[in-house]
Amino acid sequence: MAGLTFWTALLSLTARSVAQDYSTSPPVYPSPPTVGINWEAAFAQASSFVSNLTLEEKAQLVTGTTGPCVGNIGGVPRVGFEGICMQDGPLAIRQATYASVFSAGLTAAASWDRGLIYLRGLQMGEEFKGKGSHVALGPVVGPLGRSGYGGRGWEGFSPDPYLTGVAAEQTIWGMQQAGVQTSLKHYIGNEQETQRNPDKSANNNTIEAVSSNVDDRTIHELYLWPFANGVRAGTSSIMCSYNRINGSYGCQNSKTLNGLLKTELGFQGYVVSDWAATHAGVDAVNAGLDMNMPGPISGFPNASFFGGNVTQAVNNGTLNESRVDDMVRRIMTPYFWLNQAEYPPIDGYEPTLNSRYPPYQYSFTLGSSNVDVRADHAQSIRDLGAAGTVLLKNTNNTLPLKAPSTIGVFGNDAGDVVDGLYFSGASFQQRQGYEYGTLPVAGGSGAGRLSYLVTPLEAIKARGAQDNTLVQYILNNTLITQPGGLRTIAPVPEVCLVFLKSWASEGSDRVSLEANWNSTAVVNSVAAICNNTIVITHSAGLNVMPWANNPNVTAILAAHLPGQESGNSIVDVLYGTVNPSGKLPYTIALNESDYSFADITNSTELQETEDPNAWQSNFTEALLIDYRHFDYYNQSVLFEFGFGLSYTTFDVSNLDIEPTVSGISPYPDAAPTVPGGNPTLWQVLYVVNITVKNTGDVAGATVPQVYLALPQIAGSVPTPKNVLRGFEKVLLQPGQSLTVNFPLTRRDLSYWDVNLQDWVIPSGAIGVNVGFSSRDIRLANDFVVVQ
Ligand SMILES: *[C@@H]1O[C@H](CO)[C@@H](O)[C@H](O)[C@H]1NC(C)=O
Ligand SMILES: *[C@@H]1O[C@H](CO)[C@@H](O)[C@H](O)[C@H]1NC(C)=O
Ligand SMILES: *[C@@H]1O[C@H](CO)[C@@H](O)[C@H](O)[C@H]1NC(C)=O
Ligand SMILES: *[C@@H]1O[C@H](CO)[C@@H](O)[C@H](O)[C@H]1NC(C)=O
Ligand SMILES: *[C@@H]1O[C@H](CO)[C@@H](O)[C@H](O)[C@H]1NC(C)=O
Ligand SMILES: *[C@@H]1O[C@H](CO)[C@@H](O)[C@H](O)[C@H]1NC(C)=O
Ligand SMILES: *[C@@H]1O[C@H](CO)[C@@H](O)[C@H](O)[C@H]1NC(C)=O
Ligand SMILES: *[C@@H]1O[C@H](CO)[C@@H](O)[C@H](O)[C@H]1NC(C)=O
Ligand SMILES: *[C@@H]1O[C@H](CO)[C@@H](O)[C@H](O)[C@H]1NC(C)=O
Ligand SMILES: *[C@@H]1O[C@H](CO)[C@@H](O)[C@H](O)[C@H]1NC(C)=O
Ligand SMILES: *[C@@H]1O[C@H](CO)[C@@H](O)[C@H](O)[C@H]1NC(C)=O
Ligand SMILES: *[C@@H]1O[C@H](CO)[C@@H](O)[C@H](O)[C@H]1NC(C)=O
Repeated sequence: MAGLTFWTALLSLTARSVAQDYSTSPPVYPSPPTVGINWEAAFAQASSFVSNLTLEEKAQLVTGTTGPCVGNIGGVPRVGFEGICMQDGPLAIRQATYASVFSAGLTAAASWDRGLIYLRGLQMGEEFKGKGSHVALGPVVGPLGRSGYGGRGWEGFSPDPYLTGVAAEQTIWGMQQAGVQTSLKHYIGNEQETQRNPDKSANNNTIEAVSSNVDDRTIHELYLWPFANGVRAGTSSIMCSYNRINGSYGCQNSKTLNGLLKTELGFQGYVVSDWAATHAGVDAVNAGLDMNMPGPISGFPNASFFGGNVTQAVNNGTLNESRVDDMVRRIMTPYFWLNQAEYPPIDGYEPTLNSRYPPYQYSFTLGSSNVDVRADHAQSIRDLGAAGTVLLKNTNNTLPLKAPSTIGVFGNDAGDVVDGLYFSGASFQQRQGYEYGTLPVAGGSGAGRLSYLVTPLEAIKARGAQDNTLVQYILNNTLITQPGGLRTIAPVPEVCLVFLKSWASEGSDRVSLEANWNSTAVVNSVAAICNNTIVITHSAGLNVMPWANNPNVTAILAAHLPGQESGNSIVDVLYGTVNPSGKLPYTIALNESDYSFADITNSTELQETEDPNAWQSNFTEALLIDYRHFDYYNQSVLFEFGFGLSYTTFDVSNLDIEPTVSGISPYPDAAPTVPGGNPTLWQVLYVVNITVKNTGDVAGATVPQVYLALPQIAGSVPTPKNVLRGFEKVLLQPGQSLTVNFPLTRRDLSYWDVNLQDWVIPSGAIGVNVGFSSRDIRLANDFVVVQ
């Protein structure tokens, strides 16, 4: 026992120094083996499978190879294993023909609708499976959204970890219910694209990737939080990220992989590298990496850090074969759990998975390929596109439209695309294309190949025809912003719809938070002639809106990235077929400079550095990102987190807070770790109840939100004033009331204690704030769990 006390003391000493100096990542070895918790039968199958493989076959199973998919694990015909096919990405089976392009994660988050997010996951899963893809490379919870400039924020959900955690678990449940493995990504601290990978300096020095330097409390309460939901939801796989974390690469960081993920969260599946994020063999394996993708070392198609090196390292005694067995078990357990030995062939064709190079891109016909997997998914895509549209302003109920005699449609985001239907393209800077055409999704590996696109203009024309509305339009932003550019418009429309867009793509960060293509001048030009101007944004992330208070701008809709049914989704909202119920999953500040606390780490000096370690991104704001920042510093904002209007009005009353158990200890019980961590963290300790009522004239949905105000912790980073800990989308008929329950788990009530290395419920009063946004608090009370 004395020995145990000694080790506990040493551990807490180490933890304390870690909390203060986050520029190093402590070693955590050995890599904990999976025991297949929750997947017992599949684990037994995987164990038996492994016992039948040669070392070379095991090495092949953990190493990507060329083939028809974005990621390929070759088959082992001797044992009847046909291999594993992995495909991008988070909103569609990216390269596939005859597949749907769903709403982006950002739109899903803005809906705050668990049911629709689950359905999106389920239907995406059906499409991946129908095309023979065993693994879908998504969903995204990293980036979380530390900065609005992040080029990939839109692929994920929200800078709020609670909302993102809920969206991730619903997506994982849906996709895996369809029989497809999810790969929750990118783990962890992948908050910027700039210098996400190492590169060469002018003098050919290797300049390492940016290091996200995150303190221990912040990593637990912000960045790891949604990964915990995903592990608990049973994600098969986790993709480690390009960046370094506290000085050590994401795919060979033993603290984040062996420590946080496989020990603390009890993750039982496999860690796959982001493509070419592996920089070592044995070191990465021992740090917790289980699968190397795409396999070869960049530029050396016949060499891999894994593959032959794994075999050699076992043979020369550098690597323990039991670790390789664990890697294969981690890979094969979810495969057997989802019955993937019986699986549809790739696009109806039966290629041997390691037989093709270059990879099959779904761009030509193979056998009975071009399997149409879209089914009736268009309807739910349309529904989610509308549900994720947020009404931000609606002066004098200008919306919904009431059979206007004439509508004007303005802006290059309204009409059809002219650069093709595949949005995988390069960065905005590299590709000045996309000037013309609406933005249904943004770019990079998180995009999709559209099989069709309903544009706003065509949907407005079709809907306008029902009322004999005259629909006029100018889609050329250059013309709109020139003196006299609107002179062809006659008569002045009763309502002017201005469509704006903001592009972003993997590989680069945004340089402005204003919508692209001279957007402010476009709005002001139209508003100068039209006193009923409605602005709609399609945006890969948040936008600042310098034109928002123009009195002629009577309504604003943040329509995010709705997917292939874009035009139908926006028309449903404009005409009131759908009562808007989306809420902002981020904060819109008054000025772009208000966000400066979370700038992307970048400068000319860094771009020109010869110091390999120059790229350091210190997350000094700690827990204070997005609304937590604005609330903590009492800063005014334009539209706050959680905000969104409706065509009806709602009220909340009867706040009731009840514990579900008595004698609550501040510390979680010692319990065997399961996927998601200590199971007692997920135990519901309190329930908050409210009554919500539709006080207006039309049916509509709203999202009552529960925020908790936890006390400050001495000697720690600042605790945010308010954190989201509950929400529910509720549909109500006029006059209807409903009681809504919000369960609060032990995790919801706790902070991460860096000294104890555990979650602890703080002593003192915990405030409960309930309302319709982070700043529209209608009911408040507090309760004491621990004196
Ligand atoms: C090993 O592979 C052989 C050949 O496919 C097969 O007959 C046998 O059942 C396998 N054994 C295990 C334990 O999987
Ligand atoms: C850097 O390396 C490349 C090839 O790897 C070579 O072409 C180039 O001359 C080198 N530049 C310097 C400054 O050494
Ligand atoms: C093993 O890894 C090294 C890089 O560390 C690489 O140069 C070599 O080609 C690899 N060997 C094999 C067989 O892939
Ligand atoms: C064993 O093999 C690994 C992988 O090829 C290599 O990195 C390592 O240097 C080798 N060690 C010895 C002692 O030969
Ligand atoms: C809104 O309605 C009020 C009261 O009827 C009126 O004074 C105001 O001019 C209206 N605003 C606009 C922009 O139409
Ligand atoms: C942007 O709008 C301004 C008018 O406010 C105009 O002078 C300028 O030419 C426009 N820029 C472009 C690139 O169209
Ligand atoms: C857009 O308008 C500008 C200004 O009138 C013009 O120079 C340009 O050619 C137009 N673009 C297209 C694609 O018509
Ligand atoms: C608003 O529209 C009217 C035309 O109805 C125009 O006279 C006025 O200048 C516009 N105001 C702004 C700020 O553009
Ligand atoms: C808006 O402009 C229309 C003409 O386009 C005019 O009839 C109406 O009075 C204006 N409304 C306001 C509030 O200025
Ligand atoms: C990063 O900095 C370089 C040099 O200052 C600049 O050219 C580039 O636009 C910056 N990138 C972003 C995303 O800010
Ligand atoms: C980041 O933090 C370290 C201390 O951990 C400090 O030495 C370094 O100067 C900081 N870098 C920047 C860019 O602030
Ligand atoms: C509030 O929640 C508690 C715990 O679930 C439940 O017992 C109670 O009936 C609820 N109260 C109302 C008014 O629904």
